[in-house]
Amino acid sequence: MSRISITGSDRVFVLTGAGISAESGLPTFRAEDGLWAGYRIEDVCTPDAWQRNPAEVWAFYSARRAAGAKAQPNPAHFALAQLEHQLGDRFFLCTQNVDDLHERAGSRRLVHMHGELAKSRCERDCGRPPVSDHAIYSSLAEVGRCSCGGRLRPHIVFFGEIPFEMDRIQAEIAQSTLMLVIGTSGSVYPAAGFVNWARQKGARTVYIGPEPPLNAYAFTQVVEGKAGETLPGLFSVA
Ligand code: APR
Ligand code: ZN
Repeated sequence: MSRISITGSDRVFVLTGAGISAESGLPTFRAEDGLWAGYRIEDVCTPDAWQRNPAEVWAFYSARRAAGAKAQPNPAHFALAQLEHQLGDRFFLCTQNVDDLHERAGSRRLVHMHGELAKSRCERDCGRPPVSDHAIYSSLAEVGRCSCGGRLRPHIVFFGEIPFEMDRIQAEIAQSTLMLVIGTSGSVYPAAGFVNWARQKGARTVYIGPEPPLNAYAFTQVVEGKAGETLPGLFSVA
């Protein structure tokens, strides 16, 4: 397999999805045995679900917290942390994942565009910042309230809500010369469109995963393989 060369003038933007955490034992969403095979998005991951049945929403995200707490970063997470270490501020990581495996591997220049499992915030968006919350709730009665009276909700971007940090993400993509997309099916926007933004700016675009994503046509190169087996040693940094 040929290595991806990164020179001193490259700026690298990385987008990761559930596939990068698959080898850590966390299920992806759209695999046959994935999360969306066992749950309906409409029941656990929409503003409407939160209004109708917050207990079910919290049951789903409590189960995600329990699974996430048991998982460890895999060689793909470590390879990206090492690349950041080599490139400094010429590296930027945007993850769709709500687990904290990138941070635990050492990544620092990252944003969680779809939120973070380990945080909660006021359902009323009253302006108070998200709070750290690792609790695994077994009933709604255990879930705390904000000082304004609103119930705490998962700090997760539900379907129909706008992802976080879009201005910063857009600015980072505009500056990048190489986009690496790892382990995402290319089915959820706006993330699935980032590759097109990068191409419009003339960047090289590389996808890494065991099967081509839905938007494979937009990549200059597709590297087929599991992230944890492929990423270590993939980059040659000049
Ligand atoms: N290494 C790399 N990629 C892998 C691996 C692996 N070991 N195993 C599976 N994959 C790939 C699959 O081929 C698939 O393309 O990971 C991708 C997972 O796709 P999805 O389940 O659709 O997950 P993702 O693209 O992250 O979903 C996007 O959808 O439900 C929402 O908000 C949720 O952030 C999520 C968004
Ligand atoms: Zn509040």
